[in-house]
Amino acid sequence: MTEKRFSNCSVSEKLLHTSFILILGIGYLFATFLIFYTVSKKDAKPGLSVEDIIIKYHGNRSGTKLEAALTGGMNAYVSPEELLSIVSWIHLGAKESDFNKEIEPILSANCVGCHNPDGFMAYVNLTSYSNVKKFVKVDTGQSIGALVRSSHIHLFGLSIIFYLLGRIFLLTELPPLVKRIAVIIPFVAIFVDIGSWWFTRYAHVFAYLVLIGGALMALSFAFQSFMSLYQMWFMKTKTKN
Ligand code: HEC
Repeated sequence: MTEKRFSNCSVSEKLLHTSFILILGIGYLFATFLIFYTVSKKDAKPGLSVEDIIIKYHGNRSGTKLEAALTGGMNAYVSPEELLSIVSWIHLGAKESDFNKEIEPILSANCVGCHNPDGFMAYVNLTSYSNVKKFVKVDTGQSIGALVRSSHIHLFGLSIIFYLLGRIFLLTELPPLVKRIAVIIPFVAIFVDIGSWWFTRYAHVFAYLVLIGGALMALSFAFQSFMSLYQMWFMKTKTKN
């Protein structure tokens, strides 16, 4: 029995594999864009850094979540004066009476457009004192609930993606050892990346592993897709079909 390779795939199988890889690639680009759009802004410096990851998963424990957001990604939505009012309100004990007088109008004008219970950012609801109060606690990073939600979605999604991509990649003509290593690496990377989200809560050093895991995953994705597409369409084969 000859083993299944691209050289004995029908054109329709190759078209199916190719469409799948291309759409997956676009999905991967969007996911990367989302990371740069959200996580990379955490430390108010451009680019994705270890600091961004530490703030996301460990928190900036010298301040509150609201301050972290206002000096990070949400900074564009407040003027320096408004920022000062909110920060002094927090440092003066975040009292309800001052909230209604000074803070509520700022949030209504600048934030509630996105952060309301019906909007796309409903989990950061800034429409009342009791809701805002939740973000005026020491910033200990992403909550366990949010981590559980994010971990299970990513574990299911990424393992399915890399299993299916790996099945296609195994149709390439590469040395068995290269294939064996290449199909395992993304799964190790998923484990390292997502495991380190959790460990970064407790120790900063794991933020490096989050970056390394993510980078390994992206490299595996690029390698497997490129090799598959290249060998599927451009490699000369002995058998014609
Ligand atoms: C254009 C829509 C939009 C506006 C306006 C907006 N935000 Fe956000 N906000 C977002 C999105 C998207 C996120 C999630 C991504 C992120 O954390 O950067 C977010 C996240 C947050 C978070 C949570 C950060 C975390 O670590 O969980 C806080 C707190 C926050 N915003 C506060 C504010 C405040 C205060 C304002 C007004 C000064 C504001 N936002 C204005 C879209 C918006």
